[in-house]
Amino acid sequence: MQIVIQPDAQAVARYGAAAIIRQIRQHPASVLGLATGATPILLYQQLITAYQHGEVSFQAVKTFNLDEYIGLAATHPQSYRYFMQHHLFNHIDIQPENTAVPEGDAADPLLACEQYEQKIMAAGGIDIQLLGIGRNGHIGFNEPSSGLRSRTRIKTLTQQTIADNARFFAPGEYQPHLSITMGIGTILDARKVLLLATGKAKAKAVKAMVEGPLSASCPASALQLHQQATVVLDEEAASDLEQLAFYRHIEQENAALLRRLNRD
Ligand code: GLP
Repeated sequence: MQIVIQPDAQAVARYGAAAIIRQIRQHPASVLGLATGATPILLYQQLITAYQHGEVSFQAVKTFNLDEYIGLAATHPQSYRYFMQHHLFNHIDIQPENTAVPEGDAADPLLACEQYEQKIMAAGGIDIQLLGIGRNGHIGFNEPSSGLRSRTRIKTLTQQTIADNARFFAPGEYQPHLSITMGIGTILDARKVLLLATGKAKAKAVKAMVEGPLSASCPASALQLHQQATVVLDEEAASDLEQLAFYRHIEQENAALLRRLNRD
């Protein structure tokens, strides 16, 4: 795991957006795995700005979102499909048919899960998967106890996740407690993983992911198994890490090495 510590949420978004833009510039037909939640919104704004300035085109890009609520149609304002349209897809030149979000209102959700996996495979797999992290260490909607090799499937949300996400729903509005989510195995198959975390509320989960044991109790700790996982944190999200000084030191050493090799 590469740990990158940035001063604040805006800098985290800039770092993440730069990595995605680099990927698309090198491979214009890249396959991106995308995430929802409050954390990636700033990054999506950076991508939109880069597109508006002609720095990147999404014409040939394909995307697969991590997850969706079961029971919400794509037109529902709290659905993750709606979120993606609103925060990214409506503002860039991506082909609508190249954007995939699990179908929350599929007549047969089990079949929809299987087909989602097949579709990812048919696209050649995910080049770079963007992730946030839940306060309980979930990635996508892979809640604690999720199988570390799991594939896209239906998951029940924990009370904590339902409570955390209640801020997006109006008081009294129906809030689903089931989801379709890529599995941890699906996420680990991505060629690169980019996890962003900001704010003090994430510090405990970040510590468990980076320094805790590899365990289904903290699904994000599965990223310890990935060959190219980058974790981008602001100071607050990094604040519980015991080896913080060492991670900063590694970052400086890496930067110096890249400068020496003229690869910065
Ligand atoms: C949701 C999503 C996750 C996301 C998490 C954290 O549960 N399914 O993909 O990472 O929330 O969201 P936030 O960035 O709003 O803290």
